[in-house]
Amino acid sequence: MKLLIDFLGKKYLVKKKGKFSTKHGEVSVDSKNGKTKSHLGKDFYQIDANFSDILNKCKRGPQAVLLKDSALIAAFTGIGKNSKVVDAGTGSGWLAAYLAKIVFPKKIVSYEKRKEFIKIAKKNFELLGIKNVQIKNADVYSELNERNIDLLALDLPEPWKVDILRVKIGGYAVAYLPQMTQVVKFVNFAEEKGFLIEHVIENPIKEWKVKGDIARPKFQQLGHTAFLVFARRVE
Ligand SMILES: C[S@@+](CC[C@H](N)C(=O)[O-])C[C@H]1O[C@@H](n2cnc3c(N)ncnc32)[C@H](O)[C@@H]1O
Repeated sequence: MKLLIDFLGKKYLVKKKGKFSTKHGEVSVDSKNGKTKSHLGKDFYQIDANFSDILNKCKRGPQAVLLKDSALIAAFTGIGKNSKVVDAGTGSGWLAAYLAKIVFPKKIVSYEKRKEFIKIAKKNFELLGIKNVQIKNADVYSELNERNIDLLALDLPEPWKVDILRVKIGGYAVAYLPQMTQVVKFVNFAEEKGFLIEHVIENPIKEWKVKGDIARPKFQQLGHTAFLVFARRVE
């Protein structure tokens, strides 16, 4: 898969070689990388798309976890290729795909109760070449059956209904919650279960435009995504 970048920085994911239409003209996409021009003479760059390029172009059904937050979850929980990871709900599969890439070739398990979202996630996994996610079409509140989990990632409305004691001692239950009222409820719940709250984080990123004499925050910024609660089982 190729990534085309136009002279304004806009990115296009191109799935197959051949002519590709943009509003700045038609570009011939081939196996070569580097600078090219559209038939209207506009500059484009053609490069191989990497995992993050493709993920950023994947379909979003329900609200997906963005790379900035997935990366933080992976970094702060220290997961690696031997980690047992369970994710719920699968939704569009963005977080599941990111976590699966880290533990590859080990499989992760992802719970999703709605079949229509499983379809979207599967398509996204196919586009990304991710084959190590086992999706369970089940209600994680009552049907979670893995044990000794290193990371239980919970991106659903009521994580306090999940049996977080299936996390092993030393492992994490991480909740991704848009509302602070949910955060307070999850923190109380996790503490009652003997978890240590290692971090409650808001992870905003601010992009700047730096070009010539221009050096200022970009006018259009990503707004609030969600808070992250890192609860670690310690007893
Ligand atoms: C915000 S989306 C998850 C997005 C996903 N983390 C991503 O990065 O694409 C929440 C998902 O949880 C699912 N869900 C909600 N409650 C659930 C439950 N009890 N068991 C399984 N899935 C559930 C919803 O159907 C929805 O698809």
